[in-house]
This record gives sequence, C-alpha cells and structure tokens, in this order.
Amino acid sequence: MSETAPISDQPRRSLVHQLALQAAAVFLVFSLAWPVYFLRASAWNWAAICAVTGAVAFLAARLARQPWWWQIIHLLFVPLLWLGMQFDISPLWYLGAFMLLLLVFRCAVTGQIPLYLSGKNVAGRLRPLLAERSALLDVGAGLASLLLPLSRLRPDLRLAGVENAPLPWLIGWLRTRNTPIDWRWGDFWRHSFAPYESVYCFLSPAPMPELWLKACREMRSGSLFISNAFPVPDVGTETLLESESGLTLYVYRIPGAHSP
Ligand SMILES: C[S@@+](CC[C@H](N)C(=O)[O-])C[C@H]1O[C@@H](n2cnc3c(N)ncnc32)[C@H](O)[C@@H]1O
Repeated sequence: MSETAPISDQPRRSLVHQLALQAAAVFLVFSLAWPVYFLRASAWNWAAICAVTGAVAFLAARLARQPWWWQIIHLLFVPLLWLGMQFDISPLWYLGAFMLLLLVFRCAVTGQIPLYLSGKNVAGRLRPLLAERSALLDVGAGLASLLLPLSRLRPDLRLAGVENAPLPWLIGWLRTRNTPIDWRWGDFWRHSFAPYESVYCFLSPAPMPELWLKACREMRSGSLFISNAFPVPDVGTETLLESESGLTLYVYRIPGAHSP
C-alpha cells in the first residue's frame, strides 16, 4: 500500500470549534448564575442551570450556523450529563460504554464519519456500471456490506476495502476471510487510489470536497468515483442512481489531467 496525501485536519478543527462553543456556553451561564445564588445564599438549582446551559449552547450553535446535528448535541449535552448523575451508576459503566462506542464509532469523533451500512440493493445498482475485471476500493468499508454482495454479483471484479474503526474492521475481516476481497486495516487518506478503476464511498458531507481532490490527483482519467448519499459540492455527476432506500448514488468520472 502506498502512502499518499496528508490526513485532513479539517474535522479536528471542527471538533475544537464545537468544544469551544460548549465551553463558552458553560462559562457564560455559570458566571451569570453564581453571583445570583451567592447573593441569595440559596442552594444551586442544578437542573435549571444545566437546562439553561443546553439552551444557550443550542442558540450559540444556531448563530454559528453549525449543522443541525451539532445543534441537537449542544442542546442535550449538559442536560444529559446532569441526568446521568441522578442515577447511582458506577463510573465503570460509563467508561465501558465509552470504550465500546470508540471501538465502533472512532471515525465519528476523528473524522465526522459514523458507521451506517450500504443497503442490500446498492451492489445491484453498481453491477452494470463497473468494467469487466476492474478494481474497486470501498473507502471506509464498514462491515463489508457493499463488498460482499458485490463479490457475489460480480466475481470478476478485484475488490478491496479499507477501514480503521477497530470493531467494524474485525467484523469485516471475519466476514471476508474466505473470499478474494482484499480487506485492509488503515486510514483511507493514507491509502493510494491509483490502483483502482472505481472508488466507492458512503461517508458524510464533511470529507467530500477533499476526497474528490484526492481521487482526481491519484486516479486515472476516466475512472469512476461513486458516492452514496453525499454529493461532491459544485461538481457535475455523470449519472445519478436511486437506491431502494431512497438514497442517491452520485457517480462521477475523473476528468483528464488538465480539466478542473
Ligand atoms: C457510513 S460507513 C460505510 C460503510 C460501508 N462503506 C458501507 O457502505 O456499508 C463509513 C465507514 O468509514 C469508516 N471510516 C471513516 N473514516 C475513515 C478513515 N479515515 N479511514 C478508514 N475508514 C474510515 C468508518 O469507521 C465507517 O465504518
């Protein structure tokens, strides 16, 4: 496997912005609350303070035009912390749940790309598009939910998948170990797209512009770049396909060396 482009630091910067937003809301509410409670010499109403903090964080996220899912996370984060503390639950359970989530959703934290799976019929939609005996890479291959059915429908293809969340990688490895699928551990930003005639992804809006640039840099002109559900902004598709789940498959052709 060749090492190529540096990893995008855009998702990490975005995470720092979200943390800063949440911290600003906590700071604002607490600095307004403590003089009030101090002067009244009354007990702190933690439920109210946490609810107001959630509301302020939500408002700040709206004003900062954050995506809707971040607005919901900001709204619920502190109130849910308070709620969790109302139950007598050992902190080890929280640690265990956190570790499990990290094993499965590692990339949701580091790259804004969670785990969800391609529908059963996506392989069928791709089947006629792919050239005879060509190579396809699934970037962020999850549990091999695309590659396994595709290898049954098109045994002539050379299929590969790269995944870097530990638990999905392990499940995918177990599922593909008796197949010709080339199942790899690793970060797709560091994996060259050059050996493949098609690259498939089902990720999130966040990495699409940079992923398209990587594909254009590394793939041969005329190769296919296929994205399930998330279009590349401002780039015209060659074909749009509807999957049974109602999601759109965006099919792009890599332009010639001097095209935009
Ligand atoms: C939405 S799932 C899609 C899974 C699979 N391609 C499918 O269609 O069923 C996206 C996957 O990409 C993985 N992923 C995200 N960022 C990655 C990275 N930088 N390198 C490798 N895998 C990554 C996630 O762990 C997740 O399993």
